Amino acid sequence: MNYRHAYHAGNFADVLKHATLVGLLEALTVKQTPLCYFDTHAGAGSYDLTGPQARSTSEAANGIRPLLEAQQLPSSLHVYLNLVRSFNSAPNTGGVLNVYPGSPLLAASLLRESDRLVLCELQSDEATSLRDLFATDRRVGVHKRDGYEMLPALVPPAERRGLVLMDPPFESQGEEFDTILHSLQKAYARWPTGVYALWYPIKLRETVTRFHRKIESAGIPKVLVAELCLHADDTALRLNGCGMLLINPPYRFERTLESIVKSLAHHLKQGRYGRTTISWISGEQTGRPGARPKRPGAKVRRG
Ligand SMILES: C[S@@+](CC[C@H](N)C(=O)[O-])C[C@H]1O[C@@H](n2cnc3c(N)ncnc32)[C@H](O)[C@@H]1O
Repeated sequence: MNYRHAYHAGNFADVLKHATLVGLLEALTVKQTPLCYFDTHAGAGSYDLTGPQARSTSEAANGIRPLLEAQQLPSSLHVYLNLVRSFNSAPNTGGVLNVYPGSPLLAASLLRESDRLVLCELQSDEATSLRDLFATDRRVGVHKRDGYEMLPALVPPAERRGLVLMDPPFESQGEEFDTILHSLQKAYARWPTGVYALWYPIKLRETVTRFHRKIESAGIPKVLVAELCLHADDTALRLNGCGMLLINPPYRFERTLESIVKSLAHHLKQGRYGRTTISWISGEQTGRPGARPKRPGAKVRRG
């Protein structure tokens, strides 16, 4: 495995993923009852944007950096951006963005004393960083193991409420989608009320379409997808866009998600290309939480 997230920290893909994560946790923590957060591919937890890896790619320059400067953002992005600022507020940073918080750190900032975090990371160095970062946080458990295998083994959590973030490196491209589906199906069968959030890359459209069809035929109801494309999705040679696939999103979360992707497309588009999609690829949540889907099939809005 060669993937190191430090090369990509704070890029547009991280921004979509983390803004969605923060929105989901905000919605889920409205209820007092404890919840459990699973991060199947947790990474190092925090990234130094001044280090050689981040500097060699400068990907944050097309992601979090311009977004922090943007005006007239929807309220759905404020909590996320303020959290990122809070990790850079030490006087000696002079307001400069030096640190980018990863998904475990963002989640730990929003979760409460009674909540739990289960973080899974396969790389030794990254797992060690996670352990160091959360050494004094009793809510956090770090597992150095395969996240795909861990998830079905550890759900449902004792809390019975919670969120799974699945954020794989996608080194094996098409094949990774099958591994994801297998793990998600097993976990869902054991914990059908959990909320699941998967980040996926968009390179060639047909690879994504094939994955959506497989999800549709897996019989999992309530699957919402939001995509942000900054380039046409017709080449496998670059990251053209990315998507978030949510199973059991909180009530009316599609509105929050739509405001997030539209705003990101507006502020991060390069040249004239910036396309967003929100669709229920399986079921559609109706007036009340937990309601049965009214009609199967897709409802697509383009921005
Ligand atoms: C995209 S990064 C995670 C970033 C992190 N979720 C965040 O948002 O800050 C993917 C991580 O998955 C790890 N990884 C790769 N295969 C894995 C597996 N099968 N199980 C657990 N972790 C894995 C990689 O080492 C890498 O750190």
